[in-house]
Amino acid sequence: MAFTVRRVPVSRTIGLRQAVLRPQHVKVEHLALPGDDEPATVAFAALDTGDAVLAVARIGPEAPPSSLDASIPPGTPAWRLRGMATRPDVRNLGIGSAVLHAGIDHVISLGGGLLWCNARTPAIGLYRRADFITSGEEWVDPLLGPHVLMWRWVLPG
Ligand SMILES: CC(C)(COP(=O)(O)OP(=O)(O)OC[C@H]1O[C@@H](n2cnc3c(N)ncnc32)[C@H](O)[C@@H]1OP(=O)(O)O)[C@@H](O)C(=O)NCCC(=O)NCCS
Repeated sequence: MAFTVRRVPVSRTIGLRQAVLRPQHVKVEHLALPGDDEPATVAFAALDTGDAVLAVARIGPEAPPSSLDASIPPGTPAWRLRGMATRPDVRNLGIGSAVLHAGIDHVISLGGGLLWCNARTPAIGLYRRADFITSGEEWVDPLLGPHVLMWRWVLPG
């Protein structure tokens, strides 16, 4: 399937975020994530030839949970990946991976650092293939299901 991955305003990711990640939230204000409006927060989308959104993710600066403190030299830039979603009818085509790698490339372009996310456990394979590792035990979010902390180093380009 033909698609391109581009940086987009965070607002363009909200529709897919709602449909895939938080269908229980009908109001846009419930879909906003802390930091969405920060200038350093960026979003990426895979777009088809008609400019329809196929997959999305957003990355913003955010310190990881303290459980990673021992792994990180003080002052290391840290970035959190959130809102990773692919439209159900176009999954398993590498589109999610392409969006994820656009985010990793963004961190590379800013000098690298630690990139982390709270991964839904069915998505662990996506992140593992992009060199993330799990940390600690799984936990269950009552609304969103089982998660695990995943992270990787991103070296500067
Ligand atoms: C997780 C999610 C974003 C993955 O999106 P995707 O576009 O299907 O991702 P990819 O196609 O890159 O990879 C997914 C699978 O397709 C396979 N795949 C990758 N490229 C492929 C290709 N060119 N052809 C066929 N299969 C391919 C991979 O083996 C992968 O399987 P695995 O994850 O079990 O290892 C998507 O399934 C989704 O939106 N899930 C619901 C929301 C969610 O859980 N989001 C993550 C929150 S942390």
